[in-house]
Amino acid sequence: MKRIGVLTSGGDSPGMNAAIRAVVRSGIEAGMEVYGIHRGYEGLLEGEITQLDRNDVGDILQRGGTILKTARSRRFQTEEGLDRAAEVLDTFGINGLVVIGGDGSLHGALELSKRGVTVMGLPGTIDNDLAYTDFTIGFDTAVTTVLDAISKLRDTSSAHDRAVIVEVMGRHCGDIAVYAGLTGGAEDVLIPELPYDVNDLCRRIVLSMNRGKQHNIIIKAEGVDISSQELKEEIERKTGRETRLVVLSYLQRGGSPTMRDRLLATLCGAKAVELLKNGSTSKAIGTVAGRIEAFDLAEAMEQTREIDRDMVNLIGILAK
Ligand code: F6P
Repeated sequence: MKRIGVLTSGGDSPGMNAAIRAVVRSGIEAGMEVYGIHRGYEGLLEGEITQLDRNDVGDILQRGGTILKTARSRRFQTEEGLDRAAEVLDTFGINGLVVIGGDGSLHGALELSKRGVTVMGLPGTIDNDLAYTDFTIGFDTAVTTVLDAISKLRDTSSAHDRAVIVEVMGRHCGDIAVYAGLTGGAEDVLIPELPYDVNDLCRRIVLSMNRGKQHNIIIKAEGVDISSQELKEEIERKTGRETRLVVLSYLQRGGSPTMRDRLLATLCGAKAVELLKNGSTSKAIGTVAGRIEAFDLAEAMEQTREIDRDMVNLIGILAK
């Protein structure tokens, strides 16, 4: 019998629980013992490991957050931490590990794999910052939350003829801003990957309001190198128009996962178990053109994500 472990790491994302459920139940079905590692890599270093059965993952499919809890571990990122983590897994007889997390977590998984652990990486982050997969688990739910906020903000902005800046998450990646901007009908989107010009932005606000637009929704990713408060003040000064700021922050990380996130999480979790059962080497699992695919973990981590400039341009065209 194979013993496998599962952990969630970094920022939680809606759908992580669905992935845990799929790993545990597929693993048991395949005749494996499945162990839950609590609090990510930090908990691994502390040996916070318990065996999970089918009932332990009941009633979690629809819940945001992660029943295994998560953490950002600095200790794990050191040579000693990585060696210790591999040793703990060896002590527990765990010979396959499923890591559900974002870019940093999967880079950690790669380092572990270099120490002889077979690791399956699942893309669990709202940021959509992993290049090897179409989408990450949690991204769809986060964008849906942003869309809900935009439609409410649009009502009040129109009532007052105001501009509103909506700050969204995505540390180094503007995907939440771009997808929410295009599907939410934002007037402008500011993302860390592309330069911006505040004068241009202000000109567009004034011209569009003069043309009779009642609202102006500006989506700004948190990683852009001007603070949202500064941007708001600059817009007010340059346009002479009242502007409001809404920082959505952690609201975007919570909530029940959408169908898309549950599906992605479930299929990735089941695939991870299938690969471990077949004696595969370490892989990163995701989708390409909607189909589940597994990539060599090292190769997947070398890829860099490009922003979709056509989508960004389309936001500008449709906002006119
Ligand atoms: O990585 C996901 C994410 O939500 C980012 O979008 C955000 O910048 C970061 O986590 C916030 O991290 P923390 O939970 O440590 O405040």
